[in-house]
Amino acid sequence: MQPDNQKQDLDLVVLAKVLKLSKPYIKIFAFCIFLAVVMAVVANIRPFLIGTMVDDYIFKNDMDGLKKMAIIYILFVLANVLVRYFFIYYSQVLGQSVIKDLRVKVFEHVQSLKLRYFDQTPVGRTITRTISDVQAINEIFTQGVLTMFADILGIFAILGFMFYHSWRLTLVCLATLPLMIIATYIFKEKVKVSFQNVRNQISIMNSFLQEQISGMQIVQMFNAEKQEAKKFKEINRKYTEANLNAIEYYAIFYPVVEIISAVGLALLIWVGSRGIWNHTISAGAFISFPLYLNMLFRPVRMIADKFNTLQMGLVAADRVFKLIERDDKIRDYGEVVKDNIRGNVKFEDVSFAYDEKTFVLKNINFELEAHKTLAIVGSTGSGKTSIINILNRFYPIQKGRIIIDNIDIKKLKLNSLRTKIAMVLQDVFLFNGTVMDNITLRDDTMDRGEVIKASKEIGAHPFIEKLPGGYDFKITERGSNLSMGQRQLISFVRALVINPDILILDEATSSIDTETESIIQYAIEKLIEKRTSIIIAHRLSTIRHADKIMVLDKGEVVETGSHDELIQNMNGHYRTLYEKQFEQSVEV
Ligand code: UTP
Ligand code: MG
Repeated sequence: MQPDNQKQDLDLVVLAKVLKLSKPYIKIFAFCIFLAVVMAVVANIRPFLIGTMVDDYIFKNDMDGLKKMAIIYILFVLANVLVRYFFIYYSQVLGQSVIKDLRVKVFEHVQSLKLRYFDQTPVGRTITRTISDVQAINEIFTQGVLTMFADILGIFAILGFMFYHSWRLTLVCLATLPLMIIATYIFKEKVKVSFQNVRNQISIMNSFLQEQISGMQIVQMFNAEKQEAKKFKEINRKYTEANLNAIEYYAIFYPVVEIISAVGLALLIWVGSRGIWNHTISAGAFISFPLYLNMLFRPVRMIADKFNTLQMGLVAADRVFKLIERDDKIRDYGEVVKDNIRGNVKFEDVSFAYDEKTFVLKNINFELEAHKTLAIVGSTGSGKTSIINILNRFYPIQKGRIIIDNIDIKKLKLNSLRTKIAMVLQDVFLFNGTVMDNITLRDDTMDRGEVIKASKEIGAHPFIEKLPGGYDFKITERGSNLSMGQRQLISFVRALVINPDILILDEATSSIDTETESIIQYAIEKLIEKRTSIIIAHRLSTIRHADKIMVLDKGEVVETGSHDELIQNMNGHYRTLYEKQFEQSVEV
């Protein structure tokens, strides 16, 4: 926790930043301020009008004048309705416009962050930043700054009318105001704490639910429903408690306010009636002051709530700003744009650690000539996937150079680098959408014919055609309505359709039936034809087709050579791995 005064500075800084977001909508902002000023007068003039009607018209039997006053009164009521309508509407327009822009900003920023951010941040947190925290910023405008400004102006306007009408009665009203302010302040502080508590509990419940729903299969598989339900009940109980706790303060605050108002009213009547007897206070003032009192207390009472909303909005804003001010983007200083590459890949003494400390790749050296195929093999965790992660610059390397066609990949523009390399990852990720969407990734420039041609080329067409709707078959989230083999074939088409110069394939380890296996095998052969390919291979057939095999162990290259060369080495890593993996003794 930060010390309080520091916190207040922070709030002001954040508030300034939030207000700055409204710059493109400065006209709407100015209009809202103008409406707030008008509203302060038209909303609070009514008691004054009533007092005037009583003193100057009713007591003086001026019926015509009274009628005129009544019309003026009605006009003010209508004006108030109208001004308030525009104020509410336009402060929402302002808030919504600001957060509409902000959401895009957050989304685009998140897209540009290094993968490490996603490795370290729970998905739920990023979603909360883009959705609910941004939503809370809307309230800074609608409930916070503008309404509070309007309320404070209103209070001054009421006090002005009151003093003008009768300073004596005003002083009587002000006597109870300090009590009201103290009560409001205490309430604000208490409610703030309990609201933070409520928010925390919501967030705990959200993350629990999110994880449970994603892992439902495991829960049901292991009959863990009871334990999980118990955990949920506990979280739910805490959430309810937090809510009740917050409500308790309201339950105390409102009656206290009633009492203070009642005391104020009693004082007013007492002093007022004596004033009437000794002619220091007019009947009109006596009648209108209870109305003033009501009008004065209402914004004071509400300001506590609004202040909390404002503060919660600022907390949310602070979190959003922290996210969009994060600087861990992938540096794209490269300027070289290459339209055509031959596809010569070279690693020079490359070392890499995800966390800058534990090196998972150590001094890797290899050269792969254009149009050749390199198979990388090695036990699990040996660093195979890491090699392809750095080739595409998903993560920055700490040492060495990666060179494609004599150019350090750092010097290539990120876009230019990535359009040349297609990757098929170990875990295929499919989005919610049609097969076609998943292949083109919603790139309109790709035409349907090309996609079908590519899919025919690798032999995925027959299976896709058989799906209900063919290429328009709707894939559900993450591809759960397709088999593993089918998902893989789609990801192959996705890679082929961009016609990459370098193809990287992280073979999935899961076994599939022999028929699909042969389809996939055929597809892989087609994919690696005529282009530089790096394959993290688990299949014997793929490995055998490779021009070169590189064996990794604990982040180091331990052997390189062709299958025939490596298999000769009786105690070599490759031979051992090969025997283990394919459970057969090798005849040389
Ligand atoms: P790899 O993911 O490169 O291993 O992780 P691999 O060879 O491909 O393994 P399989 O065959 O797919 O199972 C290499 C090391 O990097 C660490 C892992 O803990 C592993 O020890 N690692 C991986 C990270 O630290 N962070 C990551 O995001 C991924
Ligand atoms: Mg891997």
